[in-house]
Amino acid sequence: MDVEDIRADLTEVLITEEEIHAKLAELARRVEADYAETTPLLVGVLKGAVMVMADFARELQIHIDMDWMAVSSYGAGTESSGVVRILKDLDTDIAGRDVLIVEDIIDSGLTLSWLLQNLQSRGAKSVKILALLRKPESIKVEVDVEYVGFDIPPAFVVGYGLDFAERYRNLRAVGVLAPHVYE
Ligand code: PRP
Repeated sequence: MDVEDIRADLTEVLITEEEIHAKLAELARRVEADYAETTPLLVGVLKGAVMVMADFARELQIHIDMDWMAVSSYGAGTESSGVVRILKDLDTDIAGRDVLIVEDIIDSGLTLSWLLQNLQSRGAKSVKILALLRKPESIKVEVDVEYVGFDIPPAFVVGYGLDFAERYRNLRAVGVLAPHVYE
């Protein structure tokens, strides 16, 4: 399957690679200013956040530390259940640290609301969230997201880290998956 075929699986490109990079640069300038007096620990949530973390971290012109967590937020279905399991924990002790969670998407909000509380309970000095995408119409629990890239409609989006059955993560843009692919 080549790139042409993959594009045929999308009904539209929602956010282009250029738009993503411009937005990450904009958010990076805010983060640099907000964390001027400290070295934040960026926590990427595997696997979806890999692309955002790679590009956002390289955009930043300040010192950062980086760590990763893997959590399982979904059961067998495609809907968030709110039951979160830690599959891979941080290597870092975050007591007293300024933590910035880096996520690809906030959908129902269940994963991030759980993660926020979990990291706060470890004695972090501050815990904030950066999410490239947010689906306001899918929110089930309100989560305070300090840095949001784009608000998007509740469509099935893939690309730039977001998958369908582990595929499409490597697309450079974010697109809407065509129903014929998953129905
Ligand atoms: C996605 C995404 C968030 C979560 C958001 O991860 O990366 O972690 O779902 O959904 P919520 O707001 O409804 O809780 P997913 O569980 O698909 O794992 P992945 O990152 O490995 O694809």
